[in-house]
This record gives sequence, C-alpha cells and structure tokens, in this order.
Amino acid sequence: MSNYPYQIRSREQYDAAYKRSVEDPEGFWAEVADSFQWHRRWDKVLEWNFTEPKVRWFGGAKLNITENCLDRHLAERGDQPAIIWEPNNPEEDFRVLSYKELHFKVCQFANVLKNNGVKKGDRVCIYMPMVPELAIAVLACARLGIIHSVVFGGFSAQSIADRIQDAQCNLVITSDGGFRGNKEIPLKSVIDDALVQCPSVKKVIVLTRTRVAVSMIKGRDVWWEDEVRKVETQGNPVCPAETMDAEDMLFILYTSGSTGKPKGVVHTCGGYMVFTAYSFVNVFQYQPGDVYFCTADIGWITGHSYIVYGPLAAGATTLMFEGIPTWPDAGRFWDIVDKFKVNILYTAPTAIRSLMGFGLDFVKNKDLGSLKVLGTVGEPINEEAWHWYDENIGKGRCPIVDTWWQTETAGILISNMAGITPGKPAHATLPLPGVQPILVDEKGEELQGNSISGNLCIKFPWPSIIRTTYGDHERCRQTYFATYPNLYFTGDGALRDEVGNYRITGRVDDVLNVSGHRIGTAEVENAINMHTGVVESAVVGYPHEIKGQGIYAYVVFSGGSHDNDLASKDIVQTVARIIGPIAKPDKIQFVKGLPKTRSGKIMRRILRKIAEGELQNLGDTSTLLDPAVVDEIRNGRL
Ligand code: WTA
Repeated sequence: MSNYPYQIRSREQYDAAYKRSVEDPEGFWAEVADSFQWHRRWDKVLEWNFTEPKVRWFGGAKLNITENCLDRHLAERGDQPAIIWEPNNPEEDFRVLSYKELHFKVCQFANVLKNNGVKKGDRVCIYMPMVPELAIAVLACARLGIIHSVVFGGFSAQSIADRIQDAQCNLVITSDGGFRGNKEIPLKSVIDDALVQCPSVKKVIVLTRTRVAVSMIKGRDVWWEDEVRKVETQGNPVCPAETMDAEDMLFILYTSGSTGKPKGVVHTCGGYMVFTAYSFVNVFQYQPGDVYFCTADIGWITGHSYIVYGPLAAGATTLMFEGIPTWPDAGRFWDIVDKFKVNILYTAPTAIRSLMGFGLDFVKNKDLGSLKVLGTVGEPINEEAWHWYDENIGKGRCPIVDTWWQTETAGILISNMAGITPGKPAHATLPLPGVQPILVDEKGEELQGNSISGNLCIKFPWPSIIRTTYGDHERCRQTYFATYPNLYFTGDGALRDEVGNYRITGRVDDVLNVSGHRIGTAEVENAINMHTGVVESAVVGYPHEIKGQGIYAYVVFSGGSHDNDLASKDIVQTVARIIGPIAKPDKIQFVKGLPKTRSGKIMRRILRKIAEGELQNLGDTSTLLDPAVVDEIRNGRL
C-alpha cells in the first residue's frame, strides 16, 4: 500500500490511469485533487480553450498552497525533516528544518513581510543564494498571496531591473552575498545597481550570509534578522494563510524566448499544487522517509517545482545544496549522497558530463548504496552520460528518470516512472497521465503512428499549464498557441520510437540550451550589440561537450583593424554585464558581414551549420544578397 492514494505502483496502473485521464480528465484530476486540503471545493474542474488561450482548473476552489505544504503535515510528521540544507563549505554545519520549524519560520517571515507593507496581489522579487531562507521567503509570499518572482543569483543588475520593472515589484528580498565554490557573489551590491532603475521598489530585506560590507539605504533597506526580532517582540508566532482562489497567481518566473525580452511565465495556485505533487510522487516514486536531493537552484523552475512546492506538498524531505558540484572537488555530490543517505538524486546532464570528465577517482570510496532512483532534467541526455550515470552512480540498480518539461509546463510532462514504466537511454519515454502529446509536421498536421519525428505539441491542458505571460496575454497566445491552432507548441522537436517512447531532440526555435539554461539568441545579440564597437551580430548554438550547447557569436566590428582578443574579452564582459555570466559567448568570430537575404533577414541556418563544423552542404545560398560572405565566414571559422 502506498501512502499517496494517487501514487501509481505498476505498469497496469499506469496504463489504466493514462486511459482514464484521457477519457475523463475532469473525473481523473478531481480524484487526485481530493487528496489535498481546500477551503472550498471547486465548482468546475476544467474550463478551457487554446484560442484566447484561457485555462481554468478547479474554478471556484479556495486554498492556500502553504497549508498543503506545511500545516497539513504538522500532526503526522511535524518532527520529520522538511528541508536538509548542505552549505557551500563542507566544514560549515549543515541545517535540518523539521516541518514544525519550517512552518514556524514561514509564519514568522510572513509577518515580517506584512510589517513591511506588502499584501496579497503585490509582487516581490527574490534574489538570494541557495539557503533555507530562500525557501522560507518563497513560502512566506505564498502564505500571504504575494506573487513571488525569483531571479537566479547569476543574473546581472540589468536583468534584475528588467524583471522588477516588468512585474512592478515593490519589495526585494536578498542577502548581503552568497557563496558558490570559492567565489563570493555580491548579491546586495548587484541589487543596489539594479534598483537605480526601479522606482516601484520601496523596501529591501537583506539576509546576512557572507558578512561582506554592504551599503544600507535609510528608509529602504532593512536586515532580515532585525525584522524577525521585531516580529518576535510583537509575540505572535502564527500567521494565518490568505485564502486564495485556485486560479489566483502564485508566481511569475522569467524565461527566455526567441525574442529579445524574457517573458514572465505565470502559474496559479490550485493546478500547480496538484500537478507538481502528483508528478513528484509518481515520477520519483517517493516513499515516506526517503531523502530526496534535487541539485537545481530555486531560481529556476526545477527548484520551484521540485525542491520547494512538489516535495513539500507531498510531505517529503527535500535536500537543498548551496554550492556547486566541483567544489571543493568533483566528488561533492557523492559526498552529500553519502553524508545524508540520499535515496533519490535529481540532476542535470551538464553536471553529469562535467563530473564524468573528472574521472572515477571522485566516485570511488563514496557509499552510494542509499540511492534508489536517479533523475535528469533540462536538456537531452546523451547516451554516454546516461550510461556513466547508470553504471557509476546507480551501479546498474537505480532506474533513471529522464524528465522532459519546461518553465511553461511547471511540472514533468514526459518521463518514465521509476521502476514502474521502463526507461530507455536518451529517451524521456511516456507522457504522464493527463498529458496528451502529439507530433506535428511543419503545417501543423498531426503525424500518426510510431517511428516518426516532428514538432512536439500538447493537445489538452494539464493542471499546471502556463496561464499567461505577465502583463501581456497576447504574447502568451503568440508564443505558445498561435503556431498551430488549438495546440500548445513546446518549441521542441521530438521523435517517437516504434513503441511510442518520446525522445526530445532539442529546440526548433531560436532558443539555446546552455548547461540546461535557456537563453534566447536575440537576447545575447542585443547584449553584444550594446558594445560600442559592434555594428551587428548573430548568435547560434553549437554542440559543446559539457554544456550541451555552446554560444557561437558572429560579430561585425566597426572601424577597421582591432585586437581580436581584446575585443572578444570586452564583448564577453558586456554580455555578462547585460545578462549575466551564463550567457557569455564561448566563441566570437569577427566577420565582415552576415549572410542575409535580399530582404535583410539573417540566414541563421548557414551560420548554424558553420558553427557546427558542417562546412560543406550549406544548402541554397543563391538567395543571399552577397554570397561571398559565406566563404569568408567559412574560412575564418573558430
Ligand atoms: C529542454 C527546464 C530533453 C527542452 C525544466 C525544453 C529537455 C527546455 C529535457 C525547457 C529532457 C528539458 N530532455 N530536453 N529531459 N528537459 N529539456 O524552461 O528543450 O528551463 O524546452 O525548463 O529544456 O527549459 P526550462
């Protein structure tokens, strides 16, 4: 017997659940949703159309997601660890927060937020290192119905400012600094730079972490610890949870698309909670007492859904790690698995490939016997990395779940279920119940049958589908629902094998996936073009051994001769400043011109091929304005 009424325990149950979810989606999801705590039940399970688009799950229902993630567990597992936190430096003490303690701290910090004048519906930006207070801040917002917008600690001041302005945030939660490997990240100082452009922000709450000197602006900046002390003297440890509509916004998370400006993906309370918990429990086959370790950062969707909300809604023990896989050495993940007897490990192919490169010495002597399930996410996993993970980490006895999903889907849509449905190297395999993927050709015609490839679309809503892009619903429609009528278009290409397993082959739009992070080519181009010496640029991806994709930039530089090395360094600096270090180009080739059609469109196909090293068969170049540039670019390839 499983502890979760909705946990699938056999292949037969999977087949039956899948069938039911297609034939009677409303009945299916109503039953799953019954396992959660609602203030009021829904009037209608689902209303939808993909033309506006408009999707409403559990319409009329009232709830607070933090009651499901915290309060609900207190009676039965109040003393069980909710969060185990491993610091960057292994010499520093780790921390364990039981459900009781986490609940207490979330209430306390929610009261801090109230004291600082934010209320339901307001937007708060969170820019923090991977410390428990980040999870506490997120949950405290959710408790009050404040919409959080977490920005990954690697983004630049400019990127933060763009996000704060777009959401009109009025409060920021940050820390003095953060530790990552042997680096210290000056988070508060980056926030100070960002806020020069953000008049909407009235308050900044600053957690002490690195004790680096920071400037505190009078009337605007307050210390986390001082504010908590104030709440303590006020003497009220409880904070009632705001009653939220199932379709009220829970959070905004910005992600890159094919245009220059990142979009604020919006998720709502009810459907998000149901689907993240459901997928967590089923894909990883979580059992009570298991220690689950997801290596992502809460700044990305993986951290939102599978460090914080999904696991906590399921009453799980979730391990948060502040540092990086290669510090103090490349055995750090395995040390953590050994130290906390981790049962489920969820990481990214890029991390696996990078650790592979350091050799097996770092794995030897580590006790990995507690592991039961391994997972990957973020990009296609190549077979070599899959086998290395399987043999050296799972020792051939742990199923690997290859989970395909997106910021917009908020939860895992295609994946095997550990030990329940079979895995296959480099294949995400089968859709979860409730998920109806199809492959379409260029014209949007559905491709029937197996052993085919096409563009991946989903034809029916699942509970955690994107609701809108913040402040710009038309953009949401254009990006996801307009390419093919009545379908959600993922932007990914995929194959379906002879028995119906999906293999995701990668983006078919102008979005790069660098170390599992989505970056828009237009975004990088805009940043490069900010450099005073740059006339124009074009950015494409190319296969990179560790990052999956690397960033290849073709740059037209002004004013005759220049020192290529120096100019490259300057451009890289500019990109780091405008977007953040994650978007730094790996290769910059200076060219005299870009291949353009007569109408001025850059022929990216050609640039992509050259970057990939495919120098012959560039396809038809006769429509180019100046075919000679192609030879120059080909000869100068890096
Ligand atoms: C890619 C991350 C292949 C895909 C959760 C998708 C994957 C994009 C996989 C979303 C996988 C994610 N196999 N490709 N298992 N998982 N992707 O929004 O291209 O950061 O569209 O969400 O990552 O990236 P995002």
